[in-house]
Amino acid sequence: MHTEWIDLYNKSDSRGSLLIAEAQKNIPFDIKRVYCLYGMNSESRGFHAHKELQQVMVCLSGKCRLIVDDGRSRVDFHLSPNRRGFFIDKMNWREMHDFSSDCILMVLASHWYDESDYIRDYKEFLKLIQE
Ligand code: TYD
Repeated sequence: MHTEWIDLYNKSDSRGSLLIAEAQKNIPFDIKRVYCLYGMNSESRGFHAHKELQQVMVCLSGKCRLIVDDGRSRVDFHLSPNRRGFFIDKMNWREMHDFSSDCILMVLASHWYDESDYIRDYKEFLKLIQE
């Protein structure tokens, strides 16, 4: 499983804080897309893997649970604002659960949105990982 916590650069002074992500510096790819998830309810999200996409998830507020599964093991991570980003490599199944109502996730992505990059069927994911 290739996941990793990434330290984001932090600059704090009496006025507040800056949290900084830079492509090819602390983010291990060129960022082509940024999107945010917010206003979640009790419904879980995700349930897919990506063939090529790499992502870094940054929890800006609240909390949630992130399950990552590489077809061999399944690990439960907890996201909350910790000045770090959570890197998820391609070909990892992910599920997000238990969002707090104030949860805001910012996602930095290595590619533009492309539905053909998604694997939304878990059995198909297991098949592809074994090939
Ligand atoms: P999806 O990635 O399935 O959401 P999650 O993994 O958070 O449960 O995306 C939900 C819908 O939004 C789906 O129809 C695809 C669309 N979408 C875009 O059009 N552009 C994007 O950048 C993203 C992330 C999703």
